[in-house]
Amino acid sequence: MDGASEKPKTGPQDRLAAALAADMAAVNLLIRDRMASEHAPRIPEVTAHLIEAGGKRLRPMLLLAAARICGAAGPDPQKLAATVEFIHTATLLHDDVVDESSRRRGRPTANLLWDNKSSVLVGDYLFARAFQLMVEPGSLRVLDILANASATIAEGEVLQLTAAQDLQTTEATYLKVIRGKTAALFSAATEAGAVIAGAAEPQVRALYTYGDALGIAFQIADDLLDYGGSSAVIGKNTGDDFRERKLTLPLIKAVAKADSTERAFWARVIEKGDQAEGDLEQAMALMAKHGAMQAARDEAMAWAETAKQALTVLPAHDLRDLLAELADYVVARIA
Ligand code: IPE
Ligand code: IPE
Ligand code: MG
Ligand code: MG
Repeated sequence: MDGASEKPKTGPQDRLAAALAADMAAVNLLIRDRMASEHAPRIPEVTAHLIEAGGKRLRPMLLLAAARICGAAGPDPQKLAATVEFIHTATLLHDDVVDESSRRRGRPTANLLWDNKSSVLVGDYLFARAFQLMVEPGSLRVLDILANASATIAEGEVLQLTAAQDLQTTEATYLKVIRGKTAALFSAATEAGAVIAGAAEPQVRALYTYGDALGIAFQIADDLLDYGGSSAVIGKNTGDDFRERKLTLPLIKAVAKADSTERAFWARVIEKGDQAEGDLEQAMALMAKHGAMQAARDEAMAWAETAKQALTVLPAHDLRDLLAELADYVVARIA
């Protein structure tokens, strides 16, 4: 499942994949089956490129794990798991256009290999396919959760767009952005898994909270890796956020502590977008000087703790333990 550039199979996400192997095989078949199009060959070309590159399949695994912890398995959770991966893949196609990214899952992006038009339209197609799949289990409440998440993701991406290049962006706005663009699908996956299992309300709420906090920790970690990770390890380019003039958490924290010389630097590279050789290194030096990377890391760790804490109301289950380990793992990448 993983692309050639992924790390060796040792982490909790691999053990989650092993524990859910039969379910995930069914989900991957569903994905393959439902991404087909008889009428437009460009669709399977683009989707196969992205889907065969693998990806961690985190969101479908979260949904399946939540459902199993709450006592449900079978075709309905599998369909909803495929649904969330379709929504995720659609947002990635759109996101790489918006971010003008050139690498995804260790491969060139679809916008680079084909063009922006194909990425946008195939992304729309995958969204539509997601909606077809999500109605099949026949749960209005699940539809509500997934439809809301789809709107919230788009809202997060648009809020991020208007917050970019704005040095006034606060940590509260950043949290709103990442809760929307990333955590909304994590929490929808875990909540929908609980709901399709007919879980009691405290369990539904606990799984929602777990997904929300895990998603926030995950995105803070991803944003840190954009300044620290190597492209080979994360399968995407680093420095994208700086080039796109995005106000992610370490940058917001460094700007808040800037003296007047530093403010002038941030105004030039982020507000004006006048970036030269060495500016990324300078930005990273300023973040280090103000302890901004460490402070952001601490926040990610605190969200991972919140995620783990939420799991304590759930019944004892091997998958519950794996979800707890997953929370540690997403922040271990940045420790
Ligand atoms: C990428 O998500 C988008 C973000 C929210 C940072 P993943 O890191 O889960 O992407 P894949 O599916 O494994 O490629
Ligand atoms: C991920 O956002 C896309 C969505 C969650 C919709 P980013 O732009 O921050 O993530 P990468 O780095 O491209 O995966
Ligand atoms: Mg992006
Ligand atoms: Mg983006």
